[in-house]
Amino acid sequence: MSLASASGSLLRSCARQQLTTSRAALASCQQSRGVADASKASFESPFSSNTTKIPDFTKYSSKKSPRSNQVFSYFMAGSLGLASAVGAKATVQDFLVNMSASADVLAQAKVEIGLGAIPEGKNVIIKWRGKPVFIRHRTQGEIDEANQIDHTSLRDPQADEERVQDPKWLVMLGVCTHLGCVPIGEAGDYGGWFCPCHGSHYDISGRIRKGPAPLNLEVPAYNFPDDETLVIG
Ligand code: FES
Repeated sequence: MSLASASGSLLRSCARQQLTTSRAALASCQQSRGVADASKASFESPFSSNTTKIPDFTKYSSKKSPRSNQVFSYFMAGSLGLASAVGAKATVQDFLVNMSASADVLAQAKVEIGLGAIPEGKNVIIKWRGKPVFIRHRTQGEIDEANQIDHTSLRDPQADEERVQDPKWLVMLGVCTHLGCVPIGEAGDYGGWFCPCHGSHYDISGRIRKGPAPLNLEVPAYNFPDDETLVIG
């Protein structure tokens, strides 16, 4: 036998032996996997059992009597309600105080004028809420003139008695009803006020008589607390 044929037969016998060993290992592995599969098949899923089982909370429950628990609950609810009401009241109060008029605005809301200082037949102009106010101490002749007019024929029909509380005192805003200029007193075609901006004429009752202004001069809110005092506002 040659050396080459001897080595070939040796290699074949080794390969045969290795193949046998590999087959045995594979069979053993498959067998063990089969066992594992068999054990897995017998595994029980936790979700297949009853999951609505309620835990036991008895160790957390109060040991006191139900009545004392109720008292505590009512006390806490009442205290929180009271605290919330106090907080809400403070918030609303702060909001209202902030929104209300400041002291300087309130001081301007009303103006008091001593009438004794205004002679008959004279005009006085005062400032009220940032606007001029005309105060005229009318003579008897001016009162008669204001009442002689047929007010129904006027552009803004208004009787003189509707515009005054005391015929001697005519009180009106000094703002032209056309575009807001300040009319000039004791001027114009009707002996009242004249607006030079576009030529509006107002009579001795402050009613528009000629020119582009559509309305009479506005009469503000006022009153006479006594014979010598006028309060505007
Ligand atoms: S603003 Fe007075 S007439 Fe135009």
